[in-house]
Amino acid sequence: MKPNTKPANPNFSSGPCTKRPGYSLAALNTDSLGRSHRSSLGKARLEKAITETIRLLNLPEGYKVGIVPGSDTGAMEMAMWSLLGERPVDVFAWESFGSGWGTDVAKQLKLADAQTFTGGYGELPDFSKANPDHDTIFTWNGTTSGVKVENADWISDDRTGLTICDATSAVFAMELDWSKIDVATFSWQKVLGGEGGHGMLILGPRAVERLESYTPAWPVPKVFGLTKGGKLIDGIFKGATINTPSMLCVEDYLDALNWVDEIGGLPAAVAKSEANLQVLADFVAENDWIDFLAKTPAITSNTSVCFVLKADEDQVKTIVKLLDSEEVAFDIGAYRDAPAGLRIWCGATVEKSDLVALLPWLTWAYQQATA
Ligand SMILES: Cc1ncc(COP(=O)(O)O)c(C=O)c1O
Repeated sequence: MKPNTKPANPNFSSGPCTKRPGYSLAALNTDSLGRSHRSSLGKARLEKAITETIRLLNLPEGYKVGIVPGSDTGAMEMAMWSLLGERPVDVFAWESFGSGWGTDVAKQLKLADAQTFTGGYGELPDFSKANPDHDTIFTWNGTTSGVKVENADWISDDRTGLTICDATSAVFAMELDWSKIDVATFSWQKVLGGEGGHGMLILGPRAVERLESYTPAWPVPKVFGLTKGGKLIDGIFKGATINTPSMLCVEDYLDALNWVDEIGGLPAAVAKSEANLQVLADFVAENDWIDFLAKTPAITSNTSVCFVLKADEDQVKTIVKLLDSEEVAFDIGAYRDAPAGLRIWCGATVEKSDLVALLPWLTWAYQQATA
C-alpha cells in the first residue's frame, strides 16, 4: 500500500544539504550586500563568521580559521599545495574523495615519496601503517561510502609530520579530536546546509610553523597563497579574504551558525545527527533487504548514511526515481563512483520526523521495484 504521509521536507541530499528548519532567505541580513567586502561592515561580517566558527567548534587556543575560495576542495588543495613536499606523505583513503587527494599528491604535485593506504567501500584502511614522521592526509567522514573514522587515536601525540584532515561532512556533526589535527577543511554546503563556493581552512600551530619555515618547490597560485615574505598572511584569518567572497553566502553561513547556537551548539547538532542515524539503524535492524554499506556500527557515518539493498542496479535506480517523482526523497542515489545503493543525509538540518515519514516510502518503493 502506498503510504499517505510524505516527509514535510524531501531534501535528503548529501551536499548541498538541506537548509536548517525554518530557513528563510528573507531572514538574512542584507546590509553587507552591494558593499565592498573590505569595508568595515563587510570585514566585520567575515570576521564574525570566523570567530563564531571558532567559538561554536570550541577550537583549541592557537587554531586559526580562514574563509577561502573553492569550497572544501579549494581549502584542501590550498593546504596541500602550501604545506606538502617537506617530507614523505601518506594518504589514507577509503572512498572517492579521499582517493582524489591521493591522486593529486601523486599526479599533480608529483611527490615521489608518497603512498596511499586504501580501504574498500564500507571499510577503513589499516591505520596502524600511520607514520608519525610523515605528513598524513585523511578524510574524517567518507561521504561516498558512509564510513567515518572511529577516532583519531592512531595519530601520535608525538608526531613530527602534519595531519591534514578533509572534515567536510563531519564538522558540526561529529566530535573531532583537534589535538590530532593540524589542518582541517570543510565547506558551508554540507552539515550546516549553507551555500557552495567557499571553503573553511583551519590551521593548528604546527601547520602555521610549517608555513613559515618551508617554501614549496613549485609555484603557488595567488588563490592558494597563505604566506607573504615567509610569514603567514594573518589577515586571511581575520576576514581579509584572498579574493572577493559572496557576502550573500557569508550571511547565509552566519544564519546557519546562529541556528546551531540556538539549538544548543555543537553537542546538540551532534546529538541530533546521531538520533537521525538511529531512526535508520532501527529500520535496517527490522528489514533484511537493506543494510549499511559500512561494515560495523562504530564506523557508520551519522551524516552521509549509505545503504546496500537486495536489488540490482536497475531496481535501485527505479527506487530512487519513484521516490523522486513522488516528491518523497530527492537526491538519495549512491554517489556515482560508489556501489549502487541509497545515501540518505542525516546531519542536524534534517528533521527526525522527516526520516520517520520516509521509512514506509522506502519499503513501498522497494516492493514496487522488486515485484
Ligand atoms: C569528503 C569530501 N571531500 C570533498 C568534497 C568536495 O567538496 P566541495 O564540493 O565543497 O569542494 C566533498 C563533497 O561532497 C566531500 O564529501
